[in-house]
Amino acid sequence: MTQEEKNSITLPKHIGVIMDGNGRWAKSRGLERSEGHKAGADTFRTICNYAADLGIEYMTFYAFSTENWKRPPKEVKAIMKIFRDYLDEANARQGENEQRGLKFHLIGEKSGLPGDIVSKMDTLEKGTSDKNVMTVNLAINYGGRDEILHSVKRIAAKVKDGSLKPGDITEDDISANLFTAGQPDPDIIIRPSGEYRLSNFMLWQAAYSEFWYSDVLWPDFTPDDLDRAIFDYSRRNRRYGGV
Ligand code: IPE
Ligand code: IPE
Ligand code: MG
Repeated sequence: MTQEEKNSITLPKHIGVIMDGNGRWAKSRGLERSEGHKAGADTFRTICNYAADLGIEYMTFYAFSTENWKRPPKEVKAIMKIFRDYLDEANARQGENEQRGLKFHLIGEKSGLPGDIVSKMDTLEKGTSDKNVMTVNLAINYGGRDEILHSVKRIAAKVKDGSLKPGDITEDDISANLFTAGQPDPDIIIRPSGEYRLSNFMLWQAAYSEFWYSDVLWPDFTPDDLDRAIFDYSRRNRRYGGV
């Protein structure tokens, strides 16, 4: 978008993206599904950098759900390899100080992920913790219900040790124990590929998010598509239950 267009709208602070349609993109080209995931990872890089340049403060990318383990082992393996390659690349760039001020944060259950991916992710999180242009949440082994369960377990532990009374538990306590603790809720959630569902994405945080759908398959998603979503968002009237 042009500077003039940007000045005429209010940018969302936090955008969530359900990166869907990689498999169909590959199929339509007679390629293996893994090729679709590779193309999707390239789109992720492009959109992530574009959003940071635009001045978006938080982006959450849904890359692998707690339900995606149901897929054929070959596909899961290919996706994990893409994560490894991306994390290696991001860690190497960080050394060269080429990262665009991106602060990375894993949202998802670390305990269910291969150990080397968790340690590459830890390296990236630690190495970018002082960056302040844009926070990038990578939702890997992420499920909204799992995240709420995780929060409830942490709160239950506080009740058990006596530091919190059941009657004193607030919505803020639940938010503060999610993987996104301290972050604003997503203003807009984008889902490409013609599907109209959340698929377990940010269930708690999406309470008042605006939804934006597109038939474009994620590997074909462009910065212009992101602009379209943002322009539409800026015309919405958010009431939060008020008038
Ligand atoms: C999204 O693309 C990537 C993951 C869920 C890992 P899909 O692989 O779901 O693509 P479609 O929906 O089958 O086209
Ligand atoms: C949602 O896509 C998860 C990710 C994009 C990571 P899915 O393709 O897994 O969702 P469903 O199965 O169509 O609901
Ligand atoms: Mg899908």
